[in-house]
Amino acid sequence: MKNTVLSFQKAKTDGKKLTMLTAYDYSTAKLIDSTGVNSILVGDSLGNVILGYEDTISVTIEDMIHHGKAVCRGAKNALVIVDMPFMSYQISVEQALENAGRLMKETHCQAVKLEGGKNICPQIKAMVAAGIPVCAHLGLTPQHINALGGFKVQGKTEMAAKQLLEDAKAVQDAGAFALVLEAIPAKLAKLITQTLDIPTIGIGAGNQTDGQVLVYADLLGLFSDFTPKFVKRYANIATLIDQAVKNFIDDVDKQTFPGPENQYQIDDSIIDKLY
Ligand code: KIV
Repeated sequence: MKNTVLSFQKAKTDGKKLTMLTAYDYSTAKLIDSTGVNSILVGDSLGNVILGYEDTISVTIEDMIHHGKAVCRGAKNALVIVDMPFMSYQISVEQALENAGRLMKETHCQAVKLEGGKNICPQIKAMVAAGIPVCAHLGLTPQHINALGGFKVQGKTEMAAKQLLEDAKAVQDAGAFALVLEAIPAKLAKLITQTLDIPTIGIGAGNQTDGQVLVYADLLGLFSDFTPKFVKRYANIATLIDQAVKNFIDDVDKQTFPGPENQYQIDDSIIDKLY
């Protein structure tokens, strides 16, 4: 059954936990979608995972559209959310609306995600009024990495925790249908989750949020440049790839690949005439 913003809200009401994973291409999206995960996020983490940047700052709206299109072709049931990259919504409400509109029209995703609180509420309101569902993102917001001084846990002081709670209420009031909480203390995430009517999706925010999101390459052990404390690795695909590729090299060397089953045949009489 197709997940929608309404089924997200129902999950919160029913106390059913939501699951979200990132994906950046058709084949991965298709595999993940078939597992029954509730949502696929085309995160701007594609900057790190797919494009090899050190952070998400360089990711462009064209990058997001390119990968968003591929993911949407592979996802049939998951709610697909595409990240709005750095500086594609901060300049003005008009700019945000135009870029969110492009993401919806060109990728066929069902929602967009943007980072920030009170400061981006005018953008959220305008998008929601235009029929664009918005997922907000608070806590460690990687697009603010330079202002935050690194990938650090957020909301640890009284003032910072209060600010986060206020921002969470503000994005809900502006019309966001869900809120991602990244790298904040578990007890603060629990309080925000209890305070809000909309579902919270945690990443490094403890197990009391309404759902969990992970970068699929972290979950599968495909990305090893850095591994945050909050990641749980469920498989080690890097080892499988390493072994499979080494087997391929070995087979080619020994001419055991391609075997007869991988080759096309032709009648000997035809070949004989060519010699
Ligand atoms: O870009 C991303 O993958 C994200 C998740 C970490 C929530 O924003």
